[in-house]
Amino acid sequence: MEPHVVRVGLLGCGNVGGSLVQLVEEHGDAIAERTGLRLEVARVAVRNTAKERAVELAPGVLTHDAADVVADPGIDVVVEVIGGIEPARELILASLQVGKPVVTANKELLANVGAELFEAAERAGVDLLFEAAVAGGIPLIRPLRESLAGERIQRVMGIVNGTTNFILTRMSEAGTTFHEALAEAQALGYAERDPTADVEGADAAAKAAIIASVAFGVKIVAGDVYREGISGVTPADIAFAERLGYVVKLLAIAEADDGEVAVRVHPAMIPNDHPLAAVRESFNAVFIEGAAVGELMLYGRGAGGRPTASAVLGDLIDAAANRRRGTSALVGALGKARLRPIEELSSQYYLDLEVVDRPGVLAAIASVFGDHGVSIKSMVQEGLGEEARLIFITHTAVEQAVQATLHDLRHLDVVDRVGSLLRVMGPE
Ligand SMILES: NC(=O)c1ccc[n+]([C@@H]2O[C@H](COP(=O)([O-])OP(=O)(O)OC[C@H]3O[C@@H](n4cnc5c(N)ncnc54)[C@H](OP(=O)(O)O)[C@@H]3O)[C@@H](O)[C@H]2O)c1
Repeated sequence: MEPHVVRVGLLGCGNVGGSLVQLVEEHGDAIAERTGLRLEVARVAVRNTAKERAVELAPGVLTHDAADVVADPGIDVVVEVIGGIEPARELILASLQVGKPVVTANKELLANVGAELFEAAERAGVDLLFEAAVAGGIPLIRPLRESLAGERIQRVMGIVNGTTNFILTRMSEAGTTFHEALAEAQALGYAERDPTADVEGADAAAKAAIIASVAFGVKIVAGDVYREGISGVTPADIAFAERLGYVVKLLAIAEADDGEVAVRVHPAMIPNDHPLAAVRESFNAVFIEGAAVGELMLYGRGAGGRPTASAVLGDLIDAAANRRRGTSALVGALGKARLRPIEELSSQYYLDLEVVDRPGVLAAIASVFGDHGVSIKSMVQEGLGEEARLIFITHTAVEQAVQATLHDLRHLDVVDRVGSLLRVMGPE
């Protein structure tokens, strides 16, 4: 039987869009044989049609008018890989309104106006698939939404930003400073010229918002996510972490407990024997804990044109197959949950202090911890000439109490500098 032709309207032909065109060319026959669907990239919208491209497109395929591609009655499925909020949002809404399924890789859009788009897809009864928006080539959204649909997910904890993981790996393995490691990441093309969104955790926060929405079925936007980046992590923090049996990673953590949800991004120390500790360089991984299933980990390339396009292509085949059968993926409505603020969360903490090296200092500092009910688990002291560096690891304490401790320590005349505060994951 002849395969059923599916005409794809591709919006954007950069890293991901260009790779998608290549993958469709490379695997089109195999996909047709396996699924009975012949994907045809029929029209491609870009900003600048005169730009030289890595992929060859038949004459007449390229246009600068994305709205025209969406409205074209000959287009069956729309793929949005432009990025940003507008015009991507309007284009996706227009596609859904005319009953065309959409595949997108756009984390920024979903993390900010996802609920509006999901509602539009639900109303129209068509697919809005977005596997590539979080952790690039790693299947994460579909496992969370489908395979684990019957699971009570308690926590999703991930390394979801390759740039920061590369930087932290270099700091740890080559002993470089943050700025040296960032320069290396930029030279290798892992970090953008303006790396702010990656190093300050905004990219990971957008992904955390999407993960939390999907894992817990609640409406969470990027602005709901507490975030700290890695620019303040020092070589000394990394060296002490190593001495104590930990590695420092930028983690995106989404937790559900007692009807409340907590979502945050911050650097953290994780024990060397935790599976996430082995995730090096620019790789990503997501560790899922469910009530019945226990612990799961998904690992792979979280970015890059081809890995991301691979996830887009999987969604595209799914959307095309669903359309053919007159069905769409189950989405489920997004409910509301109280967001538990960072101040109410508990963790063990690592704290780095520079203090005057004289008798009685330790007692003064210990009494500040004691005043706030923060109990010290271990301490390391190192001489720094006239001064000393004190590294504390606390027992599990409430963030608010730890912040109050820091506040008082800053006002103690024997404390010269309050350095890093890192959360410490793992068992007590
Ligand atoms: N790259 C990755 O590793 C990765 C990983 C996961 C998710 N994503 C997501 O995938 C999406 C695309 O990323 P990318 O890296 O492929 O971006 P990119 O290389 O910058 O490509 C963007 C494409 O969109 C086109 N474009 C921009 N404005 C347009 C408009 N108004 N109308 C039509 N086309 C327009 C550009 O046209 P010109 O070519 O003419 O400039 C370009 O082809 C983003 O949402 C991103 O967050 C990317």
